Amino acid sequence: MKNTPHINQTAEIAETILLPGDPLRAKFIAENFLSDVEQFNAVRNILGFTGTYKNKKISVMGTGMGNPSIGIYSYELINIFGVKNLIRVGSCGAIKKEINLYDIILAQGSCSDSRYADQFKLLGNISPIASFDLLHKAYLTAQELNIKPYVGNVFATDIFYADMEESLKWAELGVLAAEMESTALYLNAMRYNANALAILTVSDNLVTHEETTAQERQTAFTNMINLALETAIKL
Ligand code: HPA
Repeated sequence: MKNTPHINQTAEIAETILLPGDPLRAKFIAENFLSDVEQFNAVRNILGFTGTYKNKKISVMGTGMGNPSIGIYSYELINIFGVKNLIRVGSCGAIKKEINLYDIILAQGSCSDSRYADQFKLLGNISPIASFDLLHKAYLTAQELNIKPYVGNVFATDIFYADMEESLKWAELGVLAAEMESTALYLNAMRYNANALAILTVSDNLVTHEETTAQERQTAFTNMINLALETAIKL
């Protein structure tokens, strides 16, 4: 059992992990979708669990909100705990009018206003992208489950409450939705040889201002979790 400043390991962590932002959603997923569950972390209430889904060991842990937070956890999961497949299961705000609440988006690429990639001192811009294998398997699995996901770019912003709402500008270049974590997740996976994908459910639409409630966000994401778990067992 290993320890980091953020994860005080009390049980095995599987090679494949689901990563919701909200630790209580991690608990919800563990309790409702996995069997033989053991808790592996409670530091800062970032609850992490490992259980079994259709004979495969799968872990699930909260990441907190934003690129810095998921940057810490994904770095440690990959480099200290040997996690290979990281599937974010989160929410996003659609920035295209035609995308409806509860639609599912597979984040093929992740644009950002974050400076997370600056650490790599590249003489240009990198394109943070999902693992093709994970994306491909998730897309095929969605078809099996009769889910029609959008696939494309998202905008991983550091700013939820913006002084000026600029995220809609990204829609002019085909970006589908705003969320806050995929860039650091993808960059860590790219840098440290792991596979990452963000599967997102639309919780609000920044054009039409439709939104779901927190209670719905906690419980109404069954389709997304099924998609993530059915993808995970193909890995
Ligand atoms: N912006 C950023 N992240 C989000 C949003 C949003 O509108 N909705 C859900 N996650």
